[in-house]
Amino acid sequence: MSTGFMRRTRSAHETRLLERARCVLPAGARSPTPSPEYAMVVKEASGSRIRDLSGNEYIDYLMGSGPLLLGHAHPEVTAAVQQAASRGSSYLMLNENAVQLAEKVVATVPCAEQVCFNSTGSESTFFAMRLARAYRKRDKILKFEGGFHGMNDYALMSNQWTQQTVDFPQAVANSAGIPQGVVQDMLVAPFYDLERTVDIINAHADELAGVIVEPLQRTITPQPGFLEGLREITTERDIPLIFDEVVTGYRLALGGAQAYYGVTPDLTALCKGIASGYPISVLCGRQDLMQLTDPAGLGTSTYVAQTGTFSNNPISTSAALASINVLEREGTYEALFAKGNRLMHALDRIFDEAGIAVQICGEAPAFQVWFSEDPIVDFRSMARADHAMNNRFTELLLDRGIVKAHEKFFISLAHSDEDLDYTVAAFESAIGEL
Ligand SMILES: Cc1ncc(COP(=O)(O)O)c(C=O)c1O
Repeated sequence: MSTGFMRRTRSAHETRLLERARCVLPAGARSPTPSPEYAMVVKEASGSRIRDLSGNEYIDYLMGSGPLLLGHAHPEVTAAVQQAASRGSSYLMLNENAVQLAEKVVATVPCAEQVCFNSTGSESTFFAMRLARAYRKRDKILKFEGGFHGMNDYALMSNQWTQQTVDFPQAVANSAGIPQGVVQDMLVAPFYDLERTVDIINAHADELAGVIVEPLQRTITPQPGFLEGLREITTERDIPLIFDEVVTGYRLALGGAQAYYGVTPDLTALCKGIASGYPISVLCGRQDLMQLTDPAGLGTSTYVAQTGTFSNNPISTSAALASINVLEREGTYEALFAKGNRLMHALDRIFDEAGIAVQICGEAPAFQVWFSEDPIVDFRSMARADHAMNNRFTELLLDRGIVKAHEKFFISLAHSDEDLDYTVAAFESAIGEL
């Protein structure tokens, strides 16, 4: 990228494609901000950069919403995928890569004694909750307000898109079409309030099948002692604790948030960090729970059906093995954290100098700026932040050749010192115009 800031342009071809998309795709373009002016059609991406159809190039901190921990089209991952693709794309049956990958997950993720594969994060959180229900022979699952666990009916409850809050532990469906019975089978607790959570668990222990939590909820770090307390009460009550590490797995550490925060759950869903954007997710955990998916149990009251046509496909498993191979190298996480920390500190300084109150939340590999005077500790404080200002900041960065998600900056190993220098200069300029 040259010196000075880019000037975004939009070609007639990209404009036409966006119009055509609106006719056939109800969601239209999935842009980083609600404004149609900032919609784009991506042409290609490599390393830290993404290019749209009009030829604009951006430094990408959206990173496919998290999976591109190594950057786009990492050469070692691409080579592994190309080789695998020449041997066929999907067998349903076992392949050597899948065994190697399962062994790798067991070796790296603290709770993983056994593993099963799915294609998306939503499937793995869905199967984790099903396993907990089968083990406990009870139906209700407790989640936290503002936590996101994907698109399955049980998961899509009281998440960060909730418009109207209700009293705990009642759940709110975040989509039309979710059966009322499912809403009633979900309980919701406040993230950051261990005492209240323990009270809800104790009050509902006889009907509770499991507790699911994002250990780093969006970009809200857990209060010291919160995950430990959750571990303690769920162990005491023999209620499976599920960590949704779809984002944090392999991103905060090789062993994910459970290694980083030092609390081991019973089950974990992993997804985005594992395979550089190729579709695969992992459900892993305690052997006695995972064993419930053994088809030899078919017909028994505890057998849990868990399969998928594309699960363990050789292309995604080869991408995952190649990705983990890179992540295992010495210095990987130090480098990732150093990059994120540099941007977090720069934002802190520049907003402070500008006299704009913000809260910089999260961990260095995935963080966010919230426009708020008050600390962001849970969903309700996050909802009170100034989201219009956040959208404007995102747009001002897009004008300067920086793409970020509304909700997060995702750091990758591909972000170079030059990218970070440019980004800090873009922050200075964008914040100056806010
Ligand atoms: C924490 C978390 N869990 C689950 C999911 C769902 O994953 P997927 O989109 O692969 O279904 C997401 C997706 O963003 C997520 O952030």
